[in-house]
Amino acid sequence: MSRDALAGLRVLVSAGPTFEDIDPVRFIGNRSSGKMGFAIAAAAARRGAGTVLVAGPVTLDTPAGVDRRDVRSAAQMHAAVLGALPADVYIGAAAVADFTPAEVAEGKIKKQPGSGGLTLELVRTADILADVASHALRPRLVLGFAAETADLEANAQDKLRRKRVDMIAGNCVGVAGSGFEADDNTLHVFDATGSHVLGPGPKTGLAEALLDLVAARLQ
Ligand code: PMT
Repeated sequence: MSRDALAGLRVLVSAGPTFEDIDPVRFIGNRSSGKMGFAIAAAAARRGAGTVLVAGPVTLDTPAGVDRRDVRSAAQMHAAVLGALPADVYIGAAAVADFTPAEVAEGKIKKQPGSGGLTLELVRTADILADVASHALRPRLVLGFAAETADLEANAQDKLRRKRVDMIAGNCVGVAGSGFEADDNTLHVFDATGSHVLGPGPKTGLAEALLDLVAARLQ
């Protein structure tokens, strides 16, 4: 298979966490570093794809040749990803918040006298991956990730079907040496025809192996 199969295509990647503001000083976030998604964007650009990277708040440098669009919240990521269509390929590696505060307090929320706690009302965010997969400008190939702490295959297969994507890369989170923040990972990639295990290994190498599978699907 040619490593140039992605040359000239438009590849759209999301990476990193989203931060959901509670008030001007507090937010709900997660442990995503952006390393997995940035490695995929870097590899796509090296293969000659016109690569757009929608990045949540991370501290990583922009890979060479990549058009980076920074966002903070799930709503901003949703708008940036859908606004970047059309694309030939969408790879959703971001860890998007499933819930966001119903309201952002204008001022810093103060502790009340006594030992009273604080109850936050959270509402669902829009599902970016599912919205890309059902969009009028749907990319030819939509690949999602599944971050799982248990039952990886069953949960990844469920997301593959429910979100109507072409491929899903499941990874274990909450264990050392894989998933969030680590330099290494193991990907269990599922599609309608079967599965592949990539790794364990560095996220840079896994990005190349994942794009080999993507390129093969596009031929
Ligand atoms: O960033 P790193 O530190 O390198 O870590 C990599 C990673 C663990 C974040 C990455 O490999 C990964 O698993 N990304 C997906 C994390 C996630 O949010 O998984 P999920 O199972 O909750 O979501 C499934 C899919 O739906 C994902 O493609 C996600 O981007 C997408 N999603 C989820 C919610 C939402 N509102 N919109 C979405 O698009």
